[in-house]
Amino acid sequence: MTAPWWRRGILYHIYPRSFMDTNGDGIGDLRGIGARLDYLCELGIDAVWLSPIYPSPMADFGYDVEDYTNVDPVFGTLEDFDALLAEVHRRGLRLVLDFVPNHTSDRHPWFRESRASRTSRRRDWYIWRDPAADGTRPNNWLSSFGGSAWSLDPQTGQYYYHAFLESQPDLNWRNPEVRAAMHSVLRFWLDRGVDGFRVDVLWHLIKDAQFRDNPPNPAWRSGDPPHMQQVMVYSADRPEIHEVVAELRRIIDQYPERVLIGEIYLPIERLVAYYGADLKGAHLPFNFQLIETAWDARGIARMIDQYEAAVPARAWPNWVLGNHDKPRIATRVGVQQARVAAMLLLTLRGMPTMYYGDELGMRNVPIPPQLVQDRFEKRVSGLGLGRDPCRTPMQWDATPNAGFTRARPWLPVAEDFPVVNVQAEREDPKSILSLYRALTKLRRVEPALSTGRYEPVVMTGDLVAYLRTQGEKRFLVALNLGAEPHAVAYSEAGPHAHVALSTHLDRSAERVTGTLNLRADEGVIVALHADG
Ligand code: GLC
Repeated sequence: MTAPWWRRGILYHIYPRSFMDTNGDGIGDLRGIGARLDYLCELGIDAVWLSPIYPSPMADFGYDVEDYTNVDPVFGTLEDFDALLAEVHRRGLRLVLDFVPNHTSDRHPWFRESRASRTSRRRDWYIWRDPAADGTRPNNWLSSFGGSAWSLDPQTGQYYYHAFLESQPDLNWRNPEVRAAMHSVLRFWLDRGVDGFRVDVLWHLIKDAQFRDNPPNPAWRSGDPPHMQQVMVYSADRPEIHEVVAELRRIIDQYPERVLIGEIYLPIERLVAYYGADLKGAHLPFNFQLIETAWDARGIARMIDQYEAAVPARAWPNWVLGNHDKPRIATRVGVQQARVAAMLLLTLRGMPTMYYGDELGMRNVPIPPQLVQDRFEKRVSGLGLGRDPCRTPMQWDATPNAGFTRARPWLPVAEDFPVVNVQAEREDPKSILSLYRALTKLRRVEPALSTGRYEPVVMTGDLVAYLRTQGEKRFLVALNLGAEPHAVAYSEAGPHAHVALSTHLDRSAERVTGTLNLRADEGVIVALHADG
């Protein structure tokens, strides 16, 4: 009963540009989110995380912050934000903001001051290095968005480091003044009442003090993102990062019930280090394994076991199925398996994170070259890495522009919107939206499915299965990741075993004896206990 909300809750990720436009500029806004809170309550989520809403030149759509303590006019005002937060809380939901500490926009006053001269008071707030002896860039580090991570500032004759775009200079987190300034940013929003932060590229904050070259990555294949030609041994995930994270956590802990989530793309064993010594790091280092692991039952089952084994005792796991940087789940695994994925996400142990629109089965939308917005795509075009396809407008109804805007939307709306939309799916008892609602509802009434114990059940072929148990309540989750029917032999099914939910939204209350027959692309939650 004393578990904090984020141990029980479901996080819903909104990309604010694409959720709901109310002022007719073709871009979503805070009032739009406020206007759709009924939907979020109906969906059964607990908390909303907003991608950045701060003033920004939008070179990376808000991940290039110009002012950390305000709202970009495209999204609204600080008053709109306060009103949204109050309304979110009134409905018993939580609001998590994106915190982007690794870099600012080059238009941020701190960077303007830093670049003004070598002796500027804020010079050391960013990462400046002299050219190498031969006049070229200081080391071989690559930008995650293509090309070198160093840009020469001709006026002062030094290079500055940017892990992403040239217009996103990295802050120097070894400088205590930078840390103090960023801590005040956290306090600004915590004092306003936000329930926590998702911290952007948390593992990047500290770089090697000696700026050693990164080694080559032998596993790199042509077609992979260009920066992966190197293993980022020296430019990220340095040991000193953990002290920085612990400091962030200390700020968060000064406020009750707030959550610290870290965006970290690292292998499982390095990822879990971000829970911190004595669990005084991030509450939840984001686990992207469901995005990164191929959709194959044996690989998925192995990955779940590895992750479960790696999460420290008393730490809380978490699972992310999609986000604004990666192809949508329905595109990766197909619309049928997207339902199985939904059941997996919402029955594994740990906090689930849903990405807006995935609950409708929204798919990646191909973007014609002349409409491409994402700078990453423009820099590495042809590799299919662009992120616009997973950021298209939310599909609300069958009216023009899917009810997202009355203007021309900033990215095209998917062609399937007349069928794949909230209104149509709400009325269809077999839709994926109805499945998501049934899953969130069951999870809410059955704590075994959220906070309960997890035990894998050994399976073969296309099947993944596990048990979730709390007190008298015991559930078997059996998932068919294949397109052929399979029988699941489960000898423990006692006299009470019955279907609690199928991804096909039928078979309700069907008795289960020794064998459970799963259809193609079907997942089933079986209640093994006596009801009542
Ligand atoms: C994170 C964000 C991504 C952004 C990058 C740079 O990975 O999720 O959208 O481009 O950081 O801030």
